[in-house]
Amino acid sequence: MKNHITLTINFVKEKLEGAEAGHDWFHIERVWKISKKIAEKEGGNLEVIELSALLHDIADPKFHNGDETLALKISKDFLEEIHVEGELIEQVLFVIKNISFKNRAEAPENPPLELQIVQDADRLDAIGAIGIARTFNFGGFKNNLMYHPEIKPNLGMNKEEYKKSNGTTINHFYEKLLLLKDLMNTETAKKIASERHDFMLQFLDEFYKEWNVEL
Ligand code: ADP
Ligand code: NI
Repeated sequence: MKNHITLTINFVKEKLEGAEAGHDWFHIERVWKISKKIAEKEGGNLEVIELSALLHDIADPKFHNGDETLALKISKDFLEEIHVEGELIEQVLFVIKNISFKNRAEAPENPPLELQIVQDADRLDAIGAIGIARTFNFGGFKNNLMYHPEIKPNLGMNKEEYKKSNGTTINHFYEKLLLLKDLMNTETAKKIASERHDFMLQFLDEFYKEWNVEL
């Protein structure tokens, strides 16, 4: 198993060379480490958890023309090549296929513990200080506005307001980051998420204060 993990680390590092900083090897490394910490408390098959965490962003559709099958194909080929057992490969592919926030409407009814844990870890890395940094990095990468002053987005925005604010990095907090706390699967992740969530609220307060030059 150690050998499988080491081989996978090397493979992922090489594949993600030059990736956008929010979806690079260091994101993977954090998700891998958080997954292991959650698994210490919650259990689950560690080999499945570690391999899924390491491979979950190997070919993110938003950097590959929306192709949702590429990550599965690359992961399957690689895991077969290093002779991971067939049953384990199936479990890893199931996690990768179902981890995404975007596709949460099609999530399986009773997700296996391994999926719950890696999904929580990926979502924890999307919130808190690192989450804020990743979000602004991605917005910059896309050349999006940080914020639009005509509208202060909030969770109860109407459609028109939402459309206007769409595309700004601050808006991403309202369409995703602030929703994640309530979507955590495990008790361990819920506790961590609560602190990171409060930090983001504090950040937003300060952001609006400084934007409006309230001294
Ligand atoms: P998932 O794969 O779970 O659907 P994404 O890969 O879309 O999640 O999001 C991962 C991270 O990328 C987000 O948490 C955020 O930091 C960044 N990101 C994605 N879309 C945007 C956006 N429109 N604006 C700013 N950041 C974004
Ligand atoms: Ni990820």
